[in-house]
Amino acid sequence: MTKEEHYNSLLPQVKALCDGEGDMIAKMANIAALLHTEFGFWWTGFYRVVNNELLLGPFQGPIACVHIAYGHGVCGTAWKERHTVVVPDVEEFPGHIACSSESRSEIVVPVFHNNDIIAVLDIDSRELSTFDDTDAHYLEQVVALM
Ligand code: SME
Repeated sequence: MTKEEHYNSLLPQVKALCDGEGDMIAKMANIAALLHTEFGFWWTGFYRVVNNELLLGPFQGPIACVHIAYGHGVCGTAWKERHTVVVPDVEEFPGHIACSSESRSEIVVPVFHNNDIIAVLDIDSRELSTFDDTDAHYLEQVVALM
């Protein structure tokens, strides 16, 4: 199965998990679990915008840092720049926050509600260059369903 096929097979599940569910944290929990178990990522989860910072939300994987400031790390950068950030090699990203020394590549996708960013989806891989435009394209569709 190609990456495209895999994402396409998951989108109806994401839709079913979100349809009619009003609680954003519950949706984040199930989406993190779905993506993490399907793709075998190293860390998959959400940071929510709370009190003008990013606060750790539902995730799967090893423990992670709890607070991330606006513009800091990959997550804070995606929040500030208001678009998906793909990092093929975290050591090449100035200011990357290493919650786990195992992480090698990363993608962060903002979650929009109306025109505001309410959270980011953060996924880490133990391999270099795991994420590309295909992941960005489909993960943006995933969070749009929330
Ligand atoms: N690497 C992220 C921090 C969060 S952890 O990867 C779970 C960053 O630089 O924002």
